[in-house]
Amino acid sequence: MTEQNELRCRKIPMNNGRSIPALGFGTLIPDLGDTLRATRSALEAGFRQFDCSERYRNEKAVGEAIQDVLREGKVRREDLFIATKLWNNNHRPERVEPAFEASLARLGLNYLDLYLIHTPFAFQPGDEQDPRDQNGNLLYDHDVTLLDTWRAMESLVDRGKCRAIGLSDIGLNELKPLYDSARIKPAVVQVESHPYLPETELLGFCKEKGIVFLAFAPLGHGMRPGLLEDPVIAAIAARVGKTPAQVLLAWAVQRGTALLTTPKSADRARENFDISALPEDALDEINRIQTRQRLNPVVNTGIPGFIPQGR
Ligand SMILES: NC(=O)c1ccc[n+]([C@@H]2O[C@H](COP(=O)([O-])OP(=O)(O)OC[C@H]3O[C@@H](n4cnc5c(N)ncnc54)[C@H](OP(=O)(O)O)[C@@H]3O)[C@@H](O)[C@H]2O)c1
Repeated sequence: MTEQNELRCRKIPMNNGRSIPALGFGTLIPDLGDTLRATRSALEAGFRQFDCSERYRNEKAVGEAIQDVLREGKVRREDLFIATKLWNNNHRPERVEPAFEASLARLGLNYLDLYLIHTPFAFQPGDEQDPRDQNGNLLYDHDVTLLDTWRAMESLVDRGKCRAIGLSDIGLNELKPLYDSARIKPAVVQVESHPYLPETELLGFCKEKGIVFLAFAPLGHGMRPGLLEDPVIAAIAARVGKTPAQVLLAWAVQRGTALLTTPKSADRARENFDISALPEDALDEINRIQTRQRLNPVVNTGIPGFIPQGR
């Protein structure tokens, strides 16, 4: 396999003896038709790792695209790595398995490769994903701990329903005690990360403990001005003959993380899958970028930052 192919097909070992494809496709797409088309395009471009969430309210459309491709025999289920996430209103232990089963049914699957707690914030239990009081303040649930929810996640693994469990939107201060108390250690931690938010300390902890660090917003959520127009990234892209997006994705994989990107068109899906290794000096230049910016405040509140309000 050439070095170029090696990078785009790289798999990272997990602590359950399995591995996760480094290049992942995220399904946070508001429109259902777009979700179906973009997921299919991602599969056709070569993406094999998929990230979903009950909160995205489009698991059925993602599942449809996956089922179509499986039915056509183009890909086998065992070649795919499919993850989804438990939302904040389902943190009570008795709500975890029903939420998991509902996601599985919407996706049309009989097992998941990974199930994540979407955020460490528990909201009031019930069917309302964003329960609020009459003043519009979110109603948090203080009667359930993250460890309570984690124990219910562990039971899903025990029952053979999902192969790995993990956490998302978590900081080191919450991750460490959970890691210490967990019977089944988190396999994956999904957080925002890019050259403006390298999360070096968290990445170091994950590497030390054998947890896969899964970066979302590797393109800075496509915001302009932003990472895609950063002068260092643009200069490297011109020098190596790749696009700024390809440079950012290669940097993420080469620093040992898995990632989630969300190209919506077939052209961008092919572009984002077509990454090749950057030379060491380019990696060093990116590592020296001083700008610091967090784009998604979800990690502070549990309130989703990228989902259009009112949906
Ligand atoms: N755990 C969490 O709380 C959380 C939060 C946010 C996201 N996520 C996950 O992470 C995934 C990825 O996050 P993200 O949406 O921020 O990913 P991203 O890939 O950093 O940003 C996507 C944006 O970049 C644009 N884009 C994609 N490819 C491009 C290219 N080659 N050139 C120029 N622009 C390009 C897209 O534009 P177009 O729309 O025009 O294609 C889109 O606006 C989500 O889908 C979701 O699965 C998780």
